Amino acid sequence: MKSLADGMNRILSEGALTVLRKTKILEDKGQSILHFEIGQPDFPTPDHVKKAGIQGIEDNYTRYTVTEGIPEFVQTIQKEVEITRGYTPDLNQILSLPGGKPGIYLTMISIVNPGEEIIFPDPGFPTYGSLSRYIGAKSIPIKLKEENQFRLDPVDIAENISERTKLIILNSPQNPTGSVMTKAELEHVAEIAEEYDCFILSDEIYSKILYDVDFFSVTSVDEASERSILLDGFSKSHSMTGWRLGYLVGPESLIQKISTLIVNAFTCIPEFIQRAGIAALTGPMNHLELMMNAFRERREVLVNGLNEIPSVTCQMPEGAFYAWPNITGTGLSSEELAHYLLHEAGIACLPGTAFGPGGEGYLRFSYATSIDTISKAIPLVRQAIERL
Ligand SMILES: Cc1ncc(COP(=O)(O)O)c(C=O)c1O
Repeated sequence: MKSLADGMNRILSEGALTVLRKTKILEDKGQSILHFEIGQPDFPTPDHVKKAGIQGIEDNYTRYTVTEGIPEFVQTIQKEVEITRGYTPDLNQILSLPGGKPGIYLTMISIVNPGEEIIFPDPGFPTYGSLSRYIGAKSIPIKLKEENQFRLDPVDIAENISERTKLIILNSPQNPTGSVMTKAELEHVAEIAEEYDCFILSDEIYSKILYDVDFFSVTSVDEASERSILLDGFSKSHSMTGWRLGYLVGPESLIQKISTLIVNAFTCIPEFIQRAGIAALTGPMNHLELMMNAFRERREVLVNGLNEIPSVTCQMPEGAFYAWPNITGTGLSSEELAHYLLHEAGIACLPGTAFGPGGEGYLRFSYATSIDTISKAIPLVRQAIERL
């Protein structure tokens, strides 16, 4: 049989999915596991959003729509960007997507040719590096430093960028470290991108999950009209991971080309899902407040608990719902410690290296789980590490 396309040998899966598979095997054998590996809110989709989706089906909004999304959806995104990012994109700068993730893939293949460079954070969302390899681009991972609270340092970008760089990917608030870049840092990156004439993809999927820090979108510098592209969605902020709904806002010429690509690939997002999305953004927001109150409390309990474990230190994340403890003091690698905690303490978390080589020396704990689970886990992690 003939071989598959070469790119298929370069693409990788996600660490979280690998750990999920391992925990399933242990759970099937009767071991109880406390889960910290999953990056999705443990809250149900808000009722009014569910109702809008169900109503959409009952009203027969079950046919193809235009690719960019029904006018009401696109207008809702326009308003959302105006409120949250302070500029009003044209309607033809907006594109609906099945979740945020496809926006990464579609943007990359629309901008970057094989051999051209993509800059992205390391550690970072695994998809950036995996897709960069897949499309034959040259990956330029930029190490996030603990002394900079894991914020991507524009100076490091300036030192690594070249004429071959086509795309810079930013992610603030960040997965896996929970860092949030400052306005000054983001403006500096925008200047660098302009100097080198490259695009910025700003993955803002955690834009609503922030603790006591201001949010700034790098896309407000050029209003997503020239070189910056905004990616956001409903998965994290509205507990809608399984609905698959997100959007891109970017330069019109790029968005129109991506739209043509979508016509060829999957046509459109189901209309009843777009209608649920409209309800999420225009309806009551108390679910977000409740979720944030819970995340805030869990963050404190988890991070303080981790800091009390000898040979572990953990900074307080400013956004998203991940703790990123430094475990170098244990003497084990990230992979070894994650494996040890799973098998010896029944704690499923991710090795930092699941997010790139820059994650060595760290673990990622998602606190999108109950306070009860966190309280049970802390002594188990502590005892397991003390036994090393
Ligand atoms: C940084 C980042 N971007 C994008 C996504 C994907 O979001 P979605 O589920 O909407 O595709 C995730 C999900 O974990 C993420 O952490």
